[in-house]
Amino acid sequence: MAKYHPGVHKYALFLVVYAAILLTAGALVTSEDAALAVPDWPLSYGTLNPPMVGGIAFEHSHRLIAAGLGFLIIILAYLLWRYEERPWMKWLGFAALGGVIFQGILGGLTVIKLLHYWLPVMHACTAEIMFAILVSIAFFTSRWYMQSLPQYADRGAPSIHSIVTLNAFVIFLQVIAGAAFRHKYISLKPHVFGAPLVLAVVIWTAATLRRRFPEVREISRARVLLHAIVGLQILLGIAALWTRISTADAPQPMPLMVTATVIHTVVGATLFAASIVTVLLCYRLIPRKRELIFATTKGEVPA
Ligand code: HEM
Ligand code: HEM
Repeated sequence: MAKYHPGVHKYALFLVVYAAILLTAGALVTSEDAALAVPDWPLSYGTLNPPMVGGIAFEHSHRLIAAGLGFLIIILAYLLWRYEERPWMKWLGFAALGGVIFQGILGGLTVIKLLHYWLPVMHACTAEIMFAILVSIAFFTSRWYMQSLPQYADRGAPSIHSIVTLNAFVIFLQVIAGAAFRHKYISLKPHVFGAPLVLAVVIWTAATLRRRFPEVREISRARVLLHAIVGLQILLGIAALWTRISTADAPQPMPLMVTATVIHTVVGATLFAASIVTVLLCYRLIPRKRELIFATTKGEVPA
Protein backbone atom coordinates (compact mmCIF):
# COMPACT_ATOMS: atom_id res chain seq x y z
CA MET A 1 0.00 0.00 0.00
CA ALA A 2 1.43 3.41 -1.01
CA LYS A 3 2.14 6.00 1.69
CA TYR A 4 -0.27 8.91 2.26
CA HIS A 5 1.32 12.35 1.82
CA PRO A 6 -1.04 14.97 3.36
CA GLY A 7 0.89 17.88 1.80
CA VAL A 8 0.57 16.48 -1.72
CA HIS A 9 -3.14 15.76 -1.24
CA LYS A 10 -3.86 19.25 0.12
CA TYR A 11 -1.94 20.79 -2.77
CA ALA A 12 -3.99 18.70 -5.25
CA LEU A 13 -7.20 19.93 -3.58
CA PHE A 14 -5.98 23.51 -3.88
CA LEU A 15 -5.45 22.97 -7.63
CA VAL A 16 -9.04 21.71 -7.95
CA VAL A 17 -10.30 24.97 -6.42
CA TYR A 18 -7.93 27.01 -8.59
CA ALA A 19 -9.07 25.16 -11.73
CA ALA A 20 -12.72 25.84 -10.86
CA ILE A 21 -11.86 29.56 -10.70
CA LEU A 22 -10.11 29.24 -14.08
CA LEU A 23 -13.16 27.52 -15.59
CA THR A 24 -15.27 30.42 -14.33
CA ALA A 25 -12.84 32.96 -15.83
CA GLY A 26 -12.89 31.06 -19.17
CA ALA A 27 -16.68 30.81 -19.21
CA LEU A 28 -16.86 34.55 -18.51
CA VAL A 29 -14.78 35.20 -21.65
CA THR A 30 -17.36 33.33 -23.73
CA SER A 31 -20.46 34.77 -22.04
CA GLU A 32 -19.04 38.30 -22.17
CA ASP A 33 -18.33 37.77 -25.88
CA ALA A 34 -14.71 38.76 -25.21
CA ALA A 35 -12.94 35.91 -27.03
CA LEU A 36 -11.48 38.15 -29.72
CA ALA A 37 -11.01 41.25 -27.57
CA VAL A 38 -7.30 40.45 -27.68
CA PRO A 39 -6.30 39.57 -31.25
CA ASP A 40 -2.80 38.18 -30.69
CA TRP A 41 -1.24 35.31 -28.73
CA PRO A 42 0.91 34.41 -26.75
CA LEU A 43 1.28 38.12 -25.94
CA SER A 44 -1.76 40.41 -25.55
CA TYR A 45 -1.45 43.48 -27.81
CA GLY A 46 2.27 42.69 -27.90
CA THR A 47 2.67 42.95 -24.12
CA LEU A 48 2.10 41.01 -20.90
CA ASN A 49 0.30 43.98 -19.43
CA PRO A 50 -2.35 45.39 -21.81
CA PRO A 51 -4.88 48.04 -20.63
CA MET A 52 -7.45 46.06 -18.64
CA VAL A 53 -10.57 47.61 -20.17
CA GLY A 54 -13.75 46.09 -21.64
CA GLY A 55 -13.39 42.58 -23.06
CA ILE A 56 -9.58 42.75 -22.77
CA ALA A 57 -9.94 42.53 -18.97
CA PHE A 58 -11.83 39.24 -19.29
CA GLU A 59 -9.65 37.70 -22.00
CA HIS A 60 -6.30 38.76 -20.56
CA SER A 61 -7.15 37.81 -16.97
CA HIS A 62 -8.26 34.39 -18.25
CA ARG A 63 -4.86 34.01 -19.90
CA LEU A 64 -3.03 35.05 -16.72
CA ILE A 65 -5.04 32.70 -14.50
CA ALA A 66 -4.43 29.90 -17.05
CA ALA A 67 -0.68 30.60 -17.02
CA GLY A 68 -0.87 30.40 -13.21
CA LEU A 69 -2.45 26.94 -13.45
CA GLY A 70 0.34 25.84 -15.80
CA PHE A 71 2.91 26.96 -13.24
CA LEU A 72 1.07 25.27 -10.36
CA ILE A 73 0.81 22.01 -12.32
CA ILE A 74 4.59 22.00 -12.91
CA ILE A 75 4.92 21.97 -9.10
CA LEU A 76 2.27 19.23 -8.83
CA ALA A 77 4.10 17.06 -11.37
CA TYR A 78 7.33 17.57 -9.43
CA LEU A 79 5.67 16.68 -6.09
CA LEU A 80 4.17 13.51 -7.54
CA TRP A 81 7.47 12.57 -9.15
CA ARG A 82 9.32 13.18 -5.88
CA TYR A 83 6.97 11.67 -3.29
CA GLU A 84 4.70 9.14 -5.01
CA GLU A 85 5.51 5.46 -4.82
CA ARG A 86 2.95 4.49 -7.47
CA PRO A 87 4.64 4.82 -10.88
CA TRP A 88 1.32 5.49 -12.65
CA MET A 89 0.73 8.48 -10.34
CA LYS A 90 4.08 9.96 -11.34
CA TRP A 91 2.98 9.67 -14.98
CA LEU A 92 -0.45 11.08 -14.21
CA GLY A 93 1.31 14.24 -12.98
CA PHE A 94 3.06 14.54 -16.34
CA ALA A 95 -0.20 13.81 -18.17
CA ALA A 96 -1.78 16.75 -16.30
CA LEU A 97 1.17 18.92 -17.31
CA GLY A 98 0.85 17.82 -20.95
CA GLY A 99 -2.91 18.48 -20.70
CA VAL A 100 -2.55 22.05 -19.46
CA ILE A 101 0.05 22.85 -22.16
CA PHE A 102 -2.23 21.38 -24.83
CA GLN A 103 -5.17 23.35 -23.41
CA GLY A 104 -3.17 26.57 -23.47
CA ILE A 105 -2.11 26.05 -27.10
CA LEU A 106 -5.72 25.25 -28.02
CA GLY A 107 -6.77 28.53 -26.35
CA GLY A 108 -4.14 30.41 -28.36
CA LEU A 109 -5.22 28.76 -31.61
CA THR A 110 -8.85 29.60 -30.80
CA VAL A 111 -7.86 33.27 -30.92
CA ILE A 112 -5.44 33.11 -33.85
CA LYS A 113 -7.84 31.08 -35.99
CA LEU A 114 -10.69 33.47 -35.11
CA LEU A 115 -12.90 30.86 -33.39
CA HIS A 116 -13.02 28.63 -36.50
CA TYR A 117 -12.56 24.85 -36.93
CA TRP A 118 -14.49 23.95 -33.77
CA LEU A 119 -11.49 25.18 -31.76
CA PRO A 120 -13.58 26.94 -29.06
CA VAL A 121 -15.67 23.76 -28.66
CA MET A 122 -12.54 21.62 -28.26
CA HIS A 123 -11.08 24.17 -25.84
CA ALA A 124 -14.29 24.11 -23.76
CA CYS A 125 -14.46 20.29 -23.69
CA THR A 126 -10.78 19.66 -22.92
CA ALA A 127 -11.12 22.17 -20.06
CA GLU A 128 -13.70 19.82 -18.53
CA ILE A 129 -11.34 16.85 -19.01
CA MET A 130 -8.51 18.84 -17.43
CA PHE A 131 -10.71 19.61 -14.44
CA ALA A 132 -11.66 15.92 -14.10
CA ILE A 133 -7.96 14.94 -14.21
CA LEU A 134 -7.16 17.31 -11.32
CA VAL A 135 -10.14 16.04 -9.31
CA SER A 136 -8.93 12.47 -9.97
CA ILE A 137 -5.42 13.31 -8.74
CA ALA A 138 -6.92 14.75 -5.54
CA PHE A 139 -8.97 11.54 -5.17
CA PHE A 140 -6.01 9.22 -5.78
CA THR A 141 -3.82 11.09 -3.27
CA SER A 142 -6.47 11.08 -0.49
CA ARG A 143 -6.01 9.17 2.76
CA TRP A 144 -9.25 7.29 2.03
CA TYR A 145 -7.96 5.98 -1.32
CA MET A 146 -4.65 4.86 0.18
CA GLN A 147 -6.03 2.81 3.03
CA SER A 148 -6.84 -0.86 2.86
CA LEU A 149 -10.54 -1.08 1.98
CA PRO A 150 -13.10 -3.91 1.96
CA GLN A 151 -13.95 -5.18 -1.51
CA TYR A 152 -17.51 -5.85 -2.64
CA ALA A 153 -18.72 -8.35 -5.22
CA ASP A 154 -20.70 -7.14 -8.20
CA ARG A 155 -23.41 -9.75 -8.76
CA GLY A 156 -25.25 -8.09 -11.64
CA ALA A 157 -24.95 -7.68 -15.38
CA PRO A 158 -23.91 -5.52 -17.15
CA SER A 159 -21.02 -4.92 -14.77
CA ILE A 160 -21.20 -1.84 -12.53
CA HIS A 161 -17.93 -0.66 -14.10
CA SER A 162 -19.57 -0.58 -17.54
CA ILE A 163 -22.64 1.24 -16.19
CA VAL A 164 -20.76 4.03 -14.40
CA THR A 165 -18.42 4.45 -17.39
CA LEU A 166 -21.40 4.74 -19.73
CA ASN A 167 -22.89 7.31 -17.34
CA ALA A 168 -19.71 9.45 -17.54
CA PHE A 169 -19.62 9.05 -21.33
CA VAL A 170 -23.24 10.18 -21.80
CA ILE A 171 -22.63 13.22 -19.56
CA PHE A 172 -19.58 14.11 -21.64
CA LEU A 173 -21.61 13.86 -24.87
CA GLN A 174 -24.05 16.32 -23.31
CA VAL A 175 -21.15 18.66 -22.49
CA ILE A 176 -19.98 18.49 -26.13
CA ALA A 177 -23.51 19.30 -27.36
CA GLY A 178 -23.71 22.23 -24.89
CA ALA A 179 -20.34 23.60 -26.01
CA ALA A 180 -21.19 23.16 -29.71
CA PHE A 181 -24.39 25.15 -29.20
CA ARG A 182 -22.75 27.79 -27.00
CA HIS A 183 -20.12 28.41 -29.67
CA LYS A 184 -22.77 28.47 -32.43
CA TYR A 185 -21.74 25.31 -34.29
CA ILE A 186 -25.05 23.42 -33.89
CA SER A 187 -28.63 24.13 -32.85
CA LEU A 188 -29.84 23.77 -29.26
CA LYS A 189 -31.99 20.70 -30.06
CA PRO A 190 -29.39 17.92 -29.41
CA HIS A 191 -28.51 19.50 -26.07
CA VAL A 192 -32.11 19.99 -24.90
CA PHE A 193 -33.17 16.50 -26.05
CA GLY A 194 -29.98 15.11 -24.50
CA ALA A 195 -30.96 16.38 -21.03
CA PRO A 196 -33.77 13.82 -20.37
CA LEU A 197 -31.42 11.11 -21.67
CA VAL A 198 -28.69 12.20 -19.24
CA LEU A 199 -31.24 12.30 -16.42
CA ALA A 200 -32.48 8.80 -17.30
CA VAL A 201 -28.93 7.38 -17.40
CA VAL A 202 -28.03 9.03 -14.07
CA ILE A 203 -31.23 7.68 -12.45
CA TRP A 204 -30.53 4.19 -13.82
CA THR A 205 -26.90 4.32 -12.68
CA ALA A 206 -27.82 5.55 -9.20
CA ALA A 207 -30.64 2.99 -8.85
CA THR A 208 -28.28 0.16 -9.87
CA LEU A 209 -25.67 1.35 -7.38
CA ARG A 210 -28.33 1.42 -4.65
CA ARG A 211 -29.70 -2.02 -5.53
CA ARG A 212 -26.33 -3.74 -5.77
CA PHE A 213 -24.42 -1.94 -2.99
CA PRO A 214 -26.99 -0.63 -0.46
CA GLU A 215 -24.55 -0.98 2.45
CA VAL A 216 -21.57 0.90 0.96
CA ARG A 217 -21.53 4.41 2.44
CA GLU A 218 -19.16 5.95 -0.13
CA ILE A 219 -21.25 4.66 -3.02
CA SER A 220 -24.44 6.00 -1.41
CA ARG A 221 -22.82 9.42 -1.15
CA ALA A 222 -21.70 9.32 -4.78
CA ARG A 223 -25.17 8.51 -6.08
CA VAL A 224 -26.83 11.22 -3.95
CA LEU A 225 -24.25 13.69 -5.27
CA LEU A 226 -24.87 12.66 -8.89
CA HIS A 227 -28.63 13.09 -8.43
CA ALA A 228 -28.23 16.48 -6.76
CA ILE A 229 -25.84 17.90 -9.36
CA VAL A 230 -27.80 16.66 -12.37
CA GLY A 231 -31.02 18.14 -10.92
CA LEU A 232 -29.31 21.46 -10.27
CA GLN A 233 -27.73 21.41 -13.72
CA ILE A 234 -31.07 20.92 -15.46
CA LEU A 235 -32.57 23.86 -13.53
CA LEU A 236 -29.51 25.96 -14.42
CA GLY A 237 -29.83 24.91 -18.07
CA ILE A 238 -33.44 26.09 -18.11
CA ALA A 239 -32.29 29.34 -16.47
CA ALA A 240 -29.48 29.74 -19.05
CA LEU A 241 -31.94 29.25 -21.90
CA TRP A 242 -34.55 31.54 -20.37
CA THR A 243 -32.02 34.34 -19.83
CA ARG A 244 -30.76 33.96 -23.42
CA ILE A 245 -34.31 34.16 -24.80
CA SER A 246 -35.61 36.89 -22.49
CA THR A 247 -32.60 39.15 -23.10
CA ALA A 248 -32.37 38.43 -26.84
CA ASP A 249 -33.25 42.04 -27.78
CA ALA A 250 -31.35 43.67 -24.91
CA PRO A 251 -27.86 45.17 -25.26
CA GLN A 252 -25.61 42.16 -24.55
CA PRO A 253 -23.93 40.93 -22.45
CA MET A 254 -26.71 41.18 -19.86
CA PRO A 255 -25.50 40.32 -16.32
CA LEU A 256 -28.35 37.85 -15.72
CA MET A 257 -27.52 35.91 -18.88
CA VAL A 258 -23.79 35.96 -18.08
CA THR A 259 -24.41 34.67 -14.54
CA ALA A 260 -26.74 31.85 -15.58
CA THR A 261 -24.62 30.64 -18.53
CA VAL A 262 -21.34 30.76 -16.60
CA ILE A 263 -22.76 28.86 -13.61
CA HIS A 264 -24.35 26.28 -15.94
CA THR A 265 -20.97 25.76 -17.66
CA VAL A 266 -19.03 25.36 -14.41
CA VAL A 267 -21.62 23.06 -12.79
CA GLY A 268 -21.47 21.01 -16.03
CA ALA A 269 -17.75 20.48 -15.35
CA THR A 270 -18.54 19.53 -11.74
CA LEU A 271 -21.12 16.96 -12.87
CA PHE A 272 -18.66 15.41 -15.31
CA ALA A 273 -15.95 15.29 -12.61
CA ALA A 274 -18.42 13.70 -10.16
CA SER A 275 -19.25 11.03 -12.74
CA ILE A 276 -15.53 10.30 -13.16
CA VAL A 277 -15.06 10.05 -9.37
CA THR A 278 -17.96 7.56 -9.31
CA VAL A 279 -16.12 5.46 -11.90
CA LEU A 280 -12.90 5.58 -9.84
CA LEU A 281 -14.80 4.76 -6.66
CA CYS A 282 -16.26 1.64 -8.25
CA TYR A 283 -12.84 0.55 -9.53
CA ARG A 284 -11.44 1.06 -6.02
CA LEU A 285 -14.15 -0.84 -4.11
CA ILE A 286 -15.47 -3.42 -6.54
CA PRO A 287 -13.07 -5.84 -8.20
CA ARG A 288 -13.82 -6.62 -11.82
CA LYS A 289 -14.99 -10.20 -12.32
CA ARG A 290 -11.59 -11.36 -13.56
CA GLU A 291 -9.87 -9.70 -10.58
CA LEU A 292 -12.13 -11.35 -8.00
CA ILE A 293 -9.72 -14.13 -7.39
CA PHE A 294 -7.13 -11.61 -6.17
CA ALA A 295 -9.50 -9.45 -4.15
CA THR A 296 -9.23 -8.89 -0.40
CA THR A 297 -12.07 -11.00 0.93
CA LYS A 298 -14.04 -9.70 3.87
CA GLY A 299 -16.96 -12.07 3.60
CA GLU A 300 -18.63 -10.11 0.80
CA VAL A 301 -16.59 -11.56 -2.06
CA PRO A 302 -17.50 -15.14 -2.98
CA ALA A 303 -14.58 -17.58 -3.10
C1 HEM B 1 -4.54 26.40 -19.63
C2 HEM B 1 -5.67 26.24 -19.16
C3 HEM B 1 -6.97 26.80 -19.71
C4 HEM B 1 -8.18 26.38 -19.31
C5 HEM B 1 -8.48 25.29 -18.28
C6 HEM B 1 -9.16 27.14 -20.05
C7 HEM B 1 -10.53 27.02 -19.90
C8 HEM B 1 -11.46 27.71 -20.61
C9 HEM B 1 -12.88 27.57 -20.45
C10 HEM B 1 -13.59 26.65 -19.47
C11 HEM B 1 -13.48 28.42 -21.32
C12 HEM B 1 -14.98 28.62 -21.48
C13 HEM B 1 -15.53 27.80 -22.58
C14 HEM B 1 -17.00 28.03 -22.70
O1 HEM B 1 -17.57 28.78 -21.94
O2 HEM B 1 -17.60 27.44 -23.57
C15 HEM B 1 -12.44 29.12 -22.04
C16 HEM B 1 -12.66 30.05 -23.01
C17 HEM B 1 -11.66 30.68 -23.70
N1 HEM B 1 -10.30 30.52 -23.51
FE1 HEM B 1 -9.40 29.28 -22.20
N2 HEM B 1 -8.52 28.01 -20.89
C18 HEM B 1 -7.16 27.84 -20.72
C19 HEM B 1 -6.17 28.53 -21.37
C20 HEM B 1 -6.37 29.50 -22.34
C21 HEM B 1 -5.31 30.24 -22.99
C22 HEM B 1 -3.82 30.14 -22.70
C23 HEM B 1 -5.91 31.05 -23.87
C24 HEM B 1 -5.12 31.98 -24.76
C25 HEM B 1 -5.58 32.75 -25.59
C26 HEM B 1 -7.35 30.85 -23.79
C27 HEM B 1 -8.31 31.48 -24.55
C28 HEM B 1 -9.66 31.33 -24.42
C29 HEM B 1 -10.66 32.02 -25.22
C30 HEM B 1 -10.37 33.01 -26.33
C31 HEM B 1 -11.90 31.61 -24.77
C32 HEM B 1 -13.27 32.04 -25.29
C33 HEM B 1 -13.69 31.19 -26.45
C34 HEM B 1 -15.01 31.65 -27.07
O3 HEM B 1 -15.74 32.44 -26.48
O4 HEM B 1 -15.31 31.20 -28.18
N3 HEM B 1 -7.59 29.90 -22.83
N4 HEM B 1 -11.21 28.66 -21.58
C1 HEM C 1 -28.58 17.35 -18.14
C2 HEM C 1 -27.55 17.92 -17.92
C3 HEM C 1 -26.90 19.06 -18.64
C4 HEM C 1 -25.56 19.19 -18.75
C5 HEM C 1 -24.48 18.22 -18.24
C6 HEM C 1 -25.31 20.43 -19.44
C7 HEM C 1 -24.05 20.93 -19.70
C8 HEM C 1 -23.78 22.09 -20.37
C9 HEM C 1 -22.48 22.65 -20.52
C10 HEM C 1 -21.20 22.06 -19.94
C11 HEM C 1 -22.61 23.78 -21.28
C12 HEM C 1 -21.49 24.72 -21.68
C13 HEM C 1 -20.52 24.05 -22.57
C14 HEM C 1 -19.28 24.86 -22.73
O1 HEM C 1 -19.25 25.71 -23.62
O2 HEM C 1 -18.36 24.66 -21.96
C15 HEM C 1 -24.01 23.94 -21.57
C16 HEM C 1 -24.53 24.98 -22.32
C17 HEM C 1 -25.88 25.23 -22.41
N1 HEM C 1 -26.91 24.47 -21.91
FE1 HEM C 1 -26.70 22.76 -20.83
N2 HEM C 1 -26.50 21.03 -19.77
C18 HEM C 1 -27.52 20.23 -19.29
C19 HEM C 1 -28.87 20.50 -19.39
C20 HEM C 1 -29.42 21.60 -20.02
C21 HEM C 1 -30.83 21.89 -20.10
C22 HEM C 1 -31.97 21.04 -19.50
C23 HEM C 1 -30.97 23.06 -20.80
C24 HEM C 1 -32.18 23.86 -21.19
C25 HEM C 1 -33.38 23.44 -21.28
C26 HEM C 1 -29.63 23.51 -21.15
C27 HEM C 1 -29.35 24.66 -21.85
C28 HEM C 1 -28.12 25.10 -22.18
C29 HEM C 1 -27.84 26.32 -22.89
C30 HEM C 1 -28.87 27.33 -23.38
C31 HEM C 1 -26.45 26.40 -23.03
C32 HEM C 1 -25.66 27.52 -23.71
C33 HEM C 1 -25.47 28.67 -22.79
C34 HEM C 1 -25.20 29.89 -23.59
O3 HEM C 1 -26.14 30.30 -24.30
O4 HEM C 1 -24.13 30.43 -23.52
N3 HEM C 1 -28.72 22.61 -20.65
N4 HEM C 1 -24.71 22.91 -21.00
